[in-house]
Amino acid sequence: MKSKITVVAPSSTANLGPGFDVFGLAVNAFYDEITLTKKKTGGVNIVTGDEIPTEPDKNTAGLVVKNMIKKFKTKDGIEINIKKNVPAGFGMGSSAASAAASAVAFDKLYRLNLDGNSLVEFAGVGEKASAGTIHYDNVAASVLGGFVIVKTNPLDVIKIDPPTNLRMCIAVPKLKVPKKKTKVSRGVIPRKINFADSVTNLSNAAAIVAGFMGNDPVLIGKSVKDVIVEPARKHMIPGFLKVKENALKAGALGVAISGAGPSIIAFSKSSDNLKKISKAMTKGFESAKTECQIVICKPSVGASIKK
Ligand code: HSE
Repeated sequence: MKSKITVVAPSSTANLGPGFDVFGLAVNAFYDEITLTKKKTGGVNIVTGDEIPTEPDKNTAGLVVKNMIKKFKTKDGIEINIKKNVPAGFGMGSSAASAAASAVAFDKLYRLNLDGNSLVEFAGVGEKASAGTIHYDNVAASVLGGFVIVKTNPLDVIKIDPPTNLRMCIAVPKLKVPKKKTKVSRGVIPRKINFADSVTNLSNAAAIVAGFMGNDPVLIGKSVKDVIVEPARKHMIPGFLKVKENALKAGALGVAISGAGPSIIAFSKSSDNLKKISKAMTKGFESAKTECQIVICKPSVGASIKK
């Protein structure tokens, strides 16, 4: 048996507009890297050069590994080495990438051969560290890659291979985000929703699935419309409406908040208008005196052993 393994897992964008907590898409913008090393002495020890909590109970990867040690009754101690590349707190599935890489690494290290749903379930435990609650959209995308639909009770993740010509332009604003940003941005979601709004979101969500199944970036883009969560969260992103309007004017097929924000994601087909869209989004943020980093990306495969 191996004593050490390194797994990389991609960033992801959740919700894609109307699919709150249900849709996720792995994107090749950034990858977190987790190395697990078996140790003779028990317990979990975290080593990292990044500014993240190193207490296992407060760390995404730590929570995942501790839970898997308990579940599979393994006797070794484990050192977790974390290299974070996915920016934390910007709606790109940062905690999910570390959680996904940890679950997949543990599975490979102990040759557990867990199925996709089990890996997603184990990775989901890590989301508790940052979001306060477990939700599976980002971890499912990061574990499995591609586009995912998270069906709950019982957990059943459906994966669809995205169109190969789907492209995204993500504008990541340079903002100070609150420490528990996801928890904060989940706090503003309406407790009750209007029936007509739920029908609108459902129709758009169904069309997004049809777009992924039919390899149709245009249908995906024009269905990325959310009349429930976006209106409740947009005030948390300076310049949101201008960034969205600018991107659409520049030819984006659709625009949404990436996950819980504050990044904004625009969808496109092939390289159509990507440069124009990038500039337009940058200008939109500038109108709110906010700088942003532009990341042009495409769908990614899921977590895998580092080659
Ligand atoms: N679906 C989640 C949310 C994704 O929007 O709160 C963020 O982790």
